[in-house]
Amino acid sequence: MASGLAPVVDAEYLKEIEKARRDLRALIYIKNCAPLMLRLAWHDAGTYDAKTSTGGPNGSIRNEQEYIHNANNGLKIAIDFCEEIKAKHPKVTYADLYQLAGVVAVEITGGPTIDFVPGRKDSAESPEEGRLPDAHKDASHLRDVFYRMGLSDKDIVALSGGHTLGRAHKGRSGFDGPWTQNPWKFDSSYFQELLRGGAKGLLKLPTDKVLVEDPKFRTLVELYAKDEDAFFADYAASHKKLSELGFTPVSSGLTAMISKWLALCCKWK
Ligand code: HEM
Repeated sequence: MASGLAPVVDAEYLKEIEKARRDLRALIYIKNCAPLMLRLAWHDAGTYDAKTSTGGPNGSIRNEQEYIHNANNGLKIAIDFCEEIKAKHPKVTYADLYQLAGVVAVEITGGPTIDFVPGRKDSAESPEEGRLPDAHKDASHLRDVFYRMGLSDKDIVALSGGHTLGRAHKGRSGFDGPWTQNPWKFDSSYFQELLRGGAKGLLKLPTDKVLVEDPKFRTLVELYAKDEDAFFADYAASHKKLSELGFTPVSSGLTAMISKWLALCCKWK
């Protein structure tokens, strides 16, 4: 649950978001950390429980009680990188900052443009450990976790394509190596490598393998492997859904109205 106050998404806040977006582009380039930033955004959001409206993209992964969860090994590095941006743009909530970092990470590595709507609240409370998926498990586990968030089979497959970026680290998860030949480029090669089987010694987690074993998942894997445009369109839609779990954005029309109203008030003063 997001226990903090929602930021007022006025013209000034939107301006800070755009500045933070530019600073994130530079930071991610300088630190070479696009995969880790995407994993941070996903792990903040992926704790959502639709039944209880708890967890989700609310910045709670910054709390020590949450970043020490086993599944979050290594993410303190990304949390600390984000502090640089937070110090420059303190108005921007952690929840917005982490989701913006995920969007920027996908874009600057060549992935699709993802619509970003700001206004998420920060939470001081963290969910219990065990809500993120366990890579050792099977298709029914993936469905349990993603359906709990209110996401679908299509979301499971499209979002798993996030493993087009980055690698596993023995000291963090026990797994080792990248999923694709170029882990710095966001493309559909994750799906092509999945269909190719064990070739080239690239990584396949048990939860990656189930995507080709389960007939419903496999249809989508085959589609995304041969049609990158279809993958990008579905990925962008699923990523937006993930980044907005439990968050009702103030409509852009309303944001525009508030901005106009604020501008008028300033004139009258
Ligand atoms: C479907 C269930 C998923 C499981 C079981 C899973 C599991 C894992 C594991 C075990 C690692 C290795 C961590 C390490 O050793 O550093 C990892 C890394 C990563 N995951 Fe996932 N993941 C899942 C879904 C996702 C999703 C939905 C995204 C994003 C949309 C994502 C993005 C990433 C990225 C970018 C990395 C690489 C991080 C780096 O290079 O440091 N994962 N994941």
